[in-house]
Amino acid sequence: MKRENFGSKLGAILAAAGSAVGLGNIWRFPIETGRNGGAAFILVYIACIILLGMPIMMSEFLIGRHTQSNTARAYQKLAPGTPWKWVGRLGVFTGFFILSYYAVVAGWTIEYAVLAVSNQFQGMTTKAEFEQVFTNFSSDPLWPIVWLIVFILLTHFIIVRGVARGIERWSKVLMPMLFIIIAVLVVCSVSMPGASSGVQFLLQPDFSKVNSHVVLSAMGQAFYSLSLGMGCLCTYASYFDRKTNLSKTTLQVCVIDTMIALMAGFIIFPAAAAANYGLTPQDIGPSLIFITLPNVFQQAFGSIPVLAYVFSVMFYLLLIVAALTSTISMHEVVTSYMAEEFHLKRNRSALIETCLSIFLGIFCALSFGCLSDVKLFDMTIFDIFDWTASNICLPVGGMFIAIFTGWYLDKQLFRDEVTNGGTVHAPYFKALIFVLRYITPLAILAIILGNFGLF
Ligand code: PHE
Repeated sequence: MKRENFGSKLGAILAAAGSAVGLGNIWRFPIETGRNGGAAFILVYIACIILLGMPIMMSEFLIGRHTQSNTARAYQKLAPGTPWKWVGRLGVFTGFFILSYYAVVAGWTIEYAVLAVSNQFQGMTTKAEFEQVFTNFSSDPLWPIVWLIVFILLTHFIIVRGVARGIERWSKVLMPMLFIIIAVLVVCSVSMPGASSGVQFLLQPDFSKVNSHVVLSAMGQAFYSLSLGMGCLCTYASYFDRKTNLSKTTLQVCVIDTMIALMAGFIIFPAAAAANYGLTPQDIGPSLIFITLPNVFQQAFGSIPVLAYVFSVMFYLLLIVAALTSTISMHEVVTSYMAEEFHLKRNRSALIETCLSIFLGIFCALSFGCLSDVKLFDMTIFDIFDWTASNICLPVGGMFIAIFTGWYLDKQLFRDEVTNGGTVHAPYFKALIFVLRYITPLAILAIILGNFGLF
């Protein structure tokens, strides 16, 4: 069976960026930044992107493009008869895990789009009002589940339409739109009266707050936001053509992703400061953007209600799209794995993944309502999924990917992929190998062990 390819270079970049940019940037990044002390966390995060994220992204790209197969098969092709295929399998498992709870939050964005379209936020001014809306909705036993199912089904239908027609076409139009609207919101938020303490929080690092948990969270966030460590970008790269410049694509995706995350921070914290939210640690959780953002729209454009309306509708619609281009990429990892490894039809394989994710997702959705007392180590079901997947599974996957490319992979093959058969200049090649061999795996290991007090 001939595999599909992305139709153009831009399509490939945007699809990879579409996978990376999502709720991780707009929803999760501000939460992690708020919980971990602001500016200092951001600096550690950026260091993780450069030292861990970029080399691993290159590795995933080259493994995927060279082998042109799903993530588990990729390792079997490059290292036949060895246990390396388990790295791919761990990725498939992690993808399934993340999709299940990610779709819960993605479902919330649909509810908020509906609220925005029906103009429900108009006239609301206090934090308590926005909080009430969120709590009522998220603890409801029905609607979060309905939206979760709708979201996974949307993903499902795009997945079964295939790579070029589905994933690529969507990403090309919607990603630039998202960028523009976020930029406008940053300007609005930063210029609100009283926003400056929020800006300071993001710009004045206080390194005394950096401890092993902060570093682990920054690393987890870097992997999560870049969609790394679970073979997602490896699977996408299997649809790249031979001319795609892997290092340039890596740089572009990392820059776009980081910029959008930072911009989200510059929307949320200044707005929260302006509205006098005095964010206490209890406020900084999954509800953060759903309470501060509707408020940004009301405060920034409240005197011109049409603008408040148009901006909030557009924002939530684009957030749905950003989440969708990410859920598609998680779903694709599992779907292509099951289809190619178990010789299933693509439709069938997608359907199995859809049903399994809905099933697990229901428990995550209910953990904000009737299952909120079910806790382990003080974490709800939702938190456990999120913490384990991003802080443990993704970095461990990434560590093995770095070891694989740094130590195991044939260096000539590596060089050929990075330089596109000698046509692209890559003076950093030796440095890249060095980082992948020593720095990346050791840093990941130290950060994980450090978090458990074992280091
Ligand atoms: N990077 C995505 C986001 O920021 C989430 C994601 C994680 C996607 C892992 C694929 C794999 O929303």
